[in-house]
Amino acid sequence: MSDLEYHVPVLRDAVLGALRPAPGERAIDLTLGGGGHARAMGERLGPQGTLIGLDQDPDAIEQAARTLAGLECKVLVVRCNFAQFDGGLRSLGIASPAEEPGGGVDVMLADLGVSSHQLDTSSRGFSFSQDGPLDMRMSKEGPDALALILDTTPHELARILREGGEVPNAMRIALALKTEAAAGRLQRTSQLAALCERLMPPRHKGKGKKIHPATTVFQALRIAVNQELEVLDTLLERAKQWMRPGGRLGIISFHSLEDRRVKQAFKKMEGYCICPPKLPICCCGWTSFGESASKRPIVASDKELEENPRARSAKLRVFRFL
Ligand SMILES: C[S@@+](CC[C@H](N)C(=O)[O-])C[C@H]1O[C@@H](n2cnc3c(N)ncnc32)[C@H](O)[C@@H]1O
Repeated sequence: MSDLEYHVPVLRDAVLGALRPAPGERAIDLTLGGGGHARAMGERLGPQGTLIGLDQDPDAIEQAARTLAGLECKVLVVRCNFAQFDGGLRSLGIASPAEEPGGGVDVMLADLGVSSHQLDTSSRGFSFSQDGPLDMRMSKEGPDALALILDTTPHELARILREGGEVPNAMRIALALKTEAAAGRLQRTSQLAALCERLMPPRHKGKGKKIHPATTVFQALRIAVNQELEVLDTLLERAKQWMRPGGRLGIISFHSLEDRRVKQAFKKMEGYCICPPKLPICCCGWTSFGESASKRPIVASDKELEENPRARSAKLRVFRFL
């Protein structure tokens, strides 16, 4: 399979323009997917550069071998969750800049969420429009979506639906999911999609377009199964310790829960004085790690949206380290 059949990289040119991978640098792509972004960055690193690719999905690791073949730069690939990217780098013999001169990376990219390959492969259970097992695990390991529904309390499940998908009447939906799952009637994505249709009216998103009622329930369950918000928080907390001076960190998010976290983490890294306004001089000793490349996130152009509708909710934020 080609990288574009696996997944079309969103905001590809914007990523290259903002992260500017340069000859001799070390870049890490934390979400390889089909390897499209990684290959584009690798082509700019030259023979002295190093490209590190990481993904938790074994399918992406297999695809990377094909997509990244023939690059001039050194290519290292590791399978792990990006919340443990530091362990992944250490397993490749790379230390942080504080631990070793020449340690760390110049460029770090995370393109969050699922790939088209994951979404379009029915056996992975991510899509309500294709029948498959109720799975939704990016890593193919750990408890799947059905186990999550069975093993969480109704209150916890309602919180997951409310917070991850803003699902209306979350408690009612949670109770229905648990009842159906316990009766063995929620083994398949098609059963969950049909249940959502019975319980929830379709929502409108303007221009007469309707959102399938299962959209928000699938999103919320997927976020919970893969602990997407928790691992993003860990990544945002750890990234700064691994960036070389002048390094660039780019995060592409796909919904407001992610983008809000990225925006706040970048603001925190920019640093700000927390002294009471009446103090004549600053006493809090705030430090700045650098600055956000722009106040607003970069979004897809009309041309890209025409060619790749999946780019419609993509938002790229970039942080430049001092
Ligand atoms: C949107 S796709 C990335 C596409 C890629 N940029 C490309 O050009 O093809 C997201 C990928 O990130 C991986 N992923 C998502 N969350 C992850 C995490 N916490 N740790 C490791 N990989 C993750 C998924 O398995 C998926 O392959």
